[in-house]
Amino acid sequence: MTLPGLSDKFTPQPTLDNLTNSSRLRQLGVPMDITDLILNDHHEQRRLFAYLDEIEQTNTAALGAVWGRLKILLDVHAAAEEALFYPQLLKIGTGGGGESSAASETKDVIKDHNEIRDAAAEVGQHDVGSDAWRQAVVNTREANGDHMAEEERQDLADFRQHASLQLRHDIAVSFATFEAHHAAGIDAQDKDPESYVNDRS
Ligand SMILES: [Fe+2]
Ligand SMILES: [Fe+2]
Repeated sequence: MTLPGLSDKFTPQPTLDNLTNSSRLRQLGVPMDITDLILNDHHEQRRLFAYLDEIEQTNTAALGAVWGRLKILLDVHAAAEEALFYPQLLKIGTGGGGESSAASETKDVIKDHNEIRDAAAEVGQHDVGSDAWRQAVVNTREANGDHMAEEERQDLADFRQHASLQLRHDIAVSFATFEAHHAAGIDAQDKDPESYVNDRS
């Protein structure tokens, strides 16, 4: 369809300013980017927490369903980062957002992931929609919100500055595959931050 006033031959020319990061990569021949996948998951997590704000406290079926989806996303996202993203950051990162090293960044990340996993598991100890359940959801949201902000400011920034486009693409494909394989959930396990980093350094 041609818009009024535009000729049939008009073809909008994308510029770097109006392209998203992933579109820019696509133009360069790299169609997926792990930093985009992680940001998209973070957005989805924020969105699902916002849905819980909107649902009436008495509608426990809806609250339980949306929380169940969010819990799976939180657990699988953290496990995918630990399996695929952070091992690579430990190899090529130098510290981002004021951190002194990738090892220091990553130890903080594993501590955060443990805190989020524990807070999310606590939600399941309470009746859906109860005050205690709501408070446990708030606690999970707080831990996750703090972690996402730090991860975006430090770890994703560090990775973008050091990873090749090909590596960003390859991890993105593995990350998407991992999440697809665990779409129904994963056995979320806390990890020792020191051992995690030492085993991969
Ligand atoms: Fe994340
Ligand atoms: Fe994370």
